[in-house]
Amino acid sequence: MKFFIDTANLDQIREAQDLGVLDGVTTNPSLMAKEGITGAENVKNHYKAICNIVDDNVSAEVIATDYEGMIREGEELAKIDPKIVVKIPMIKEGIKAIKYFSNKGIRTNCTLVFSAGQAILAAKAGATFLSPFIGRIDDMSWDGMELIHQISSIYGIQGYDTQILAASVRNSLHIVKCAEAGADVVTCPLSAILGLLKHPLTDIGLAQFLADHKKANS
Ligand code: G3P
Repeated sequence: MKFFIDTANLDQIREAQDLGVLDGVTTNPSLMAKEGITGAENVKNHYKAICNIVDDNVSAEVIATDYEGMIREGEELAKIDPKIVVKIPMIKEGIKAIKYFSNKGIRTNCTLVFSAGQAILAAKAGATFLSPFIGRIDDMSWDGMELIHQISSIYGIQGYDTQILAASVRNSLHIVKCAEAGADVVTCPLSAILGLLKHPLTDIGLAQFLADHKKANS
C-alpha cells in the first residue's frame, strides 16, 4: 500500500519525505487555501515546490466544473511537472474529462467519491486513482471502511486497473484498516503516519535495553 500525505504544507511534506516512506501528495482547494496559496502563478509555483520534494504522484485539483474548463486547467497542471496527477471531481463532466485525459495518457485522481456506483463509473472512464472519502462517511455514522472493502472486491472481480486511494483518512487505525480492506493507497495527515510508530511497550523495552547496556558497560 502506498502512502500519500494529504496536505499542501511544505514542511510536513518534507518531514514525511525524510521518513523515507512517502509515495506522493494529495492537495485540494481547501488545503491550498489553508496554506494561503492564492492566484494562478502562486498555485503553479507551489505545485512545483511540492514536486521538487517528492518522487512522484502529486495530485493537483481543477477548480472548473465544466468539461472545457477542466480540460484546459488539467492540461495546464499536467504541464507543470510529469509528477502531477490531475484531480477531477466525480461529476458528469468530470467523468468525460477523466476519459479525455486517460486517452491522452495523463494520470487522473477522481475525487469526492462516496459510493460503489461512482467507483465503477470512474474505473470505466480510466481513472488512475479513485478517492473514496472514508472519514466523511464515518462522520455521517455510515461505515467508510465498508466502502473500501466493497470497491476492492468489485475492482478485483472486474479486473479494473484503477487504484483505490483511500482519502479523508483521519487517524492511524484508519491506515491499518485500509491496508486490511485492500486500499492501494492511503492519503492522510502526517500525524496519522507518525501515529503508526506509537506503542508503549516499544518505549518501555528500549528504555530497559539502554539501562541494561549502561549498567553492564559502566
Ligand atoms: O483527501 C481528502 C481530504 O483532504 C478530505 O479530508 O478530513 O477534510 O474529510 P477531510
